[in-house]
Amino acid sequence: MKDHLLRQIIDAMPHVTDLEELADHVAELVIGAFGADVCFVYLLDEDQRHISLIGATPPYSIHRGKIRLAVGDGISGWVAQSKIPLIVPDKWADSRYRYMPELEGENFNFLISVPMMRPGEVVVGVLNVHWRELPSESESILVDLQYVANLFAGNVEMAALVEKLARRESQLEKFAADTIDAAELERKRIARDIHDGLGQLLHSALYHLDAAMYPESMNASRIEITAAKDLVVSAISEVKETISRLRPGILDDLGLMAGLASLCNSIKNPEVDVELPEVFDAILSSAAEITIYRITQEALANIIKHSGATWASLKIWLDYELRILHAIISDDGAGFDVDDVNNGHGIQGMRERVELIGASLEVFSRANHGTKIHLKVPFSLNQ
Ligand SMILES: Nc1ncnc2c1ncn2[C@@H]1O[C@H](COP(=O)(O)OP(=O)(O)OP(=O)(O)O)[C@@H](O)[C@H]1O
Ligand SMILES: [Mg+2]
Repeated sequence: MKDHLLRQIIDAMPHVTDLEELADHVAELVIGAFGADVCFVYLLDEDQRHISLIGATPPYSIHRGKIRLAVGDGISGWVAQSKIPLIVPDKWADSRYRYMPELEGENFNFLISVPMMRPGEVVVGVLNVHWRELPSESESILVDLQYVANLFAGNVEMAALVEKLARRESQLEKFAADTIDAAELERKRIARDIHDGLGQLLHSALYHLDAAMYPESMNASRIEITAAKDLVVSAISEVKETISRLRPGILDDLGLMAGLASLCNSIKNPEVDVELPEVFDAILSSAAEITIYRITQEALANIIKHSGATWASLKIWLDYELRILHAIISDDGAGFDVDDVNNGHGIQGMRERVELIGASLEVFSRANHGTKIHLKVPFSLNQ
C-alpha cells in the first residue's frame, strides 16, 4: 500500500465514539483514499445473524438502521459469513447480489466487498465500496482495502460497545423509574386489596363472633362461630394470595425447575407440554431465576389471554458449551405482528428484564402461525 495513503488514513483515523458518526466518517475516508464513488458500512448485529447498515457516504446515510440483511444473504451477507473479500466486476451477473432500490445499485457497476475483521478472524462488519467504472489495479485495491477495513474494525467495535453500554444504562434508568412507579401503584393496589378483601372478611368474622357471645341458643352460637371460622379461613387464603402476588415464593420452596413445572401444570386450557433438563446444575443468580419465572408467567398469561391456542409448551435446555440456558415458550394460536405491538406492558417488561441480567429475548410470531418466545440466559457451572 502506498505509504502516503496509509498515513493519510491513520492521521484521519477517527477518535469519535459515536457509532453512526464514526461509520459515516469511515465511509468518507475510504472513498477519498480509493477514488471510489460510494461506500456502505455494515455492522454485525448482536444476534450475530444479521448485518445492519450503520453508515454510508452521502446521500445514503439516511438509510442507516433501515437496511438489514441475514448473514449469508446478499453479497455483504456472504462476505460476513465467509470472511472472504470479494471483487464483483458485474454484480448483475452475480446470483448473490440483492438489489435494494434505495441504495441505487444501478448507478454503480463495480463493487468490492471486504469483511472488517479484528485479530482472531472475528468479523465485526462489512465494508462495501462501489465505483461507477472499473478502477485500475482492482486486485491491489482489494488488498489495501482489506488492510484498512481491519484497521477500522477495532474502532467500530469499540463504538458499538460504547453505544450498547449507553443504551443499557438508559434502559436501566427507565426501568428504575418504571419500577418506582410500579411499586407505588402496587402499594396502592395492596392497600385496596387489604381494605376490601381482608378487612371486610375480618369485620364480618367479628360481627359473627359478637353474635355468638349472646346466643339465643347453643345451636345459634354454633352457627355464628362456624360462619366466623369460614371467614377466617377465607382471610388466610386471601393473605396467601396477596403474598404470592408479591413474590414467587415457589422459587424458594421448590426451586426454579419445579416452580416452572408447577406453574405450567396449573394451566388447563390449553394444557402446557413441559420439557425440562433432567439435571439442572446451572448456577443462576436470584435475579436471573426470577426473570425466567416472570417471563414464563407473562408468556403463559398472554397465551391464555390472546392466543386461543390448542397447544402450548415450555421447553428448557442447557447448552454447556456456550453456558447458555435456553427457554422456549410456544403456542399454536392466533399469533400477532411483532413489529406492531404498542399497547400492553407484558412484552416490553420482558425485554427490560432480560436487559438487566445480560440475557436476550426473541419473539417470533405471525398472524395465524402461533407465537414463540426464545429466552437465552447465561449461566455458570456448579463445579
Ligand atoms: N401468545 C400470543 N398469542 C397471540 N397474541 C399475543 C400473544 N402474546 C402477545 N400477543 C399480542 O401482543 C400484544 C402485547 O402483549 P403484552 O403482553 O405486551 O400486552 P397485553 O398482554 O395486551 O397487556 P399486559 O401484558 O400489559 O396485561 C397483546 O395485546 C396481543 O395482541
Ligand atoms: Mg400480556
